[in-house]
Amino acid sequence: MSASIVVGTQWGDEGKGKIIDIIASRADVVVRSQGGNNAGHTVVSGGQTYKLHLIPSGILYKNTLCLIGAGVVMDPKDFVGEMDMLEGRGVSLDNLRIDPRAHITMPWHIELDGLSEKFRGNADIGTTKRGIGPAYMDKYERCGIRAYDLIHPEIFAEKARSTGMLKNKIITEVYGGKPVDIEAVIREYTEYGKRIAKYVDDVSVIVYNADKEGKTIMFEGAQATLLDIDFGTYPYVTSSHPLSAGVCVGTGIGPMMIRDIIGVAKAYTTRVGKGPFPTELENETGDMIRNKGGEFGTTTGRPRRTGWFDAVIVRHSVRVNGLSKLAINKLDTLSGIGDLKICTAYEKKDGTVIKDFPPVLEELADCKPVYEMFEGFNEDISRCKAFEELPKSCQRYIERLEELCGCKIAMIGNGPDRTQIIER
Ligand code: GDP
Ligand code: IMO
Ligand code: MG
Repeated sequence: MSASIVVGTQWGDEGKGKIIDIIASRADVVVRSQGGNNAGHTVVSGGQTYKLHLIPSGILYKNTLCLIGAGVVMDPKDFVGEMDMLEGRGVSLDNLRIDPRAHITMPWHIELDGLSEKFRGNADIGTTKRGIGPAYMDKYERCGIRAYDLIHPEIFAEKARSTGMLKNKIITEVYGGKPVDIEAVIREYTEYGKRIAKYVDDVSVIVYNADKEGKTIMFEGAQATLLDIDFGTYPYVTSSHPLSAGVCVGTGIGPMMIRDIIGVAKAYTTRVGKGPFPTELENETGDMIRNKGGEFGTTTGRPRRTGWFDAVIVRHSVRVNGLSKLAINKLDTLSGIGDLKICTAYEKKDGTVIKDFPPVLEELADCKPVYEMFEGFNEDISRCKAFEELPKSCQRYIERLEELCGCKIAMIGNGPDRTQIIER
């Protein structure tokens, strides 16, 4: 039994793709279990950059089985685009499988995502507009279309007609939008169904058997803890459970299979989309981090909001995920930024200091970060191979993060390439 989970501990884009790619070199199976093409995972290998949205980051290894579990919502158009991109670059897809239960993101979901965001006006969530929320809504309303349906043209046409008609009523009569051409969608999506049919298989069974055979299994988290529908900054969250526990229901396995839960964080904090961000830097330092770190969304290209490392949120992640270790990426980005700050706690307006992340935004609004100052560093650390090679101030920064988060920092990222990782 050696299954491990990789989860995001902040608001996404912590460099999960890179960590998964590194660990996947030792894995037989890599599984995605929630979210959809709202995710954007970057893998850099030998000077080549791969941006993956739905296909697990283990796909670059020839012998690694890459699975998409029942809890994922899949956009077949983007999926086929990703398949073409990978095949065009010589990556084999023979080891790809999709659970028949996975829900399909349809064009009306994308349309409704955009329309509902527009309707919210200033209170918009800042979604990726990939139809994720509306697709999960249909799943829970029990009118969704699943991968099994998509690969059976008659079932698909019937379901698409009945759901599509209802969705068009909402699009036109509630939002005053333009209806989706359902027959054209059926024709287009039936072709996607043909492309993916050979990959559809019961992922729950595959993972169970792989575990029994002693194979090494990795679960690739998408999004992150603070975007979790229950434990994130609701309503500024995504519509799934990116937490470690989400892996079990999203794949169809029991929790006893899991041995290791690795949380990924950046050495600072970023967020795309709207919602609270206590340590946000809306100043030159924030701009410097954005530019140095290339902090622009992998999926939407939006500039990411930037801020100091917030140990309150990462401690929250350590608890709600049951993390066994942490990986801290992008330490190299902090070089030359000047003195650094770490948020250790929040102070409420009445002067009370709290160490646990507040459960609701109304309480969070009453909090401001309490900072600890740190001496910065100017050295280029991108070639360091061992912890001891890092400047002393860098070492102290990492040791302090470890102490404040209450979790072992086992990996430190000092560059985007798969080789730029310091294991401790
Ligand atoms: P994910 O969504 O968590 O997989 O992260 P993204 O791929 O969206 O964003 C992380 C970005 O940081 C990507 O461009 C990575 O190539 C890059 N990256 C990851 N780790 C490091 C690191 O240690 N240093 C630097 N400079 N870049 C990194
Ligand atoms: P990875 O896996 C960063 C954010 C969106 C928005 C909110 C809801 O690359 O870390 P949605 O489209 O899911 O309904 O949008 O969630 N969001 C992400 N932010 N990284 C992601 O994925 C994200 N996936 C969703 O920006 O704030
Ligand atoms: Mg990303």
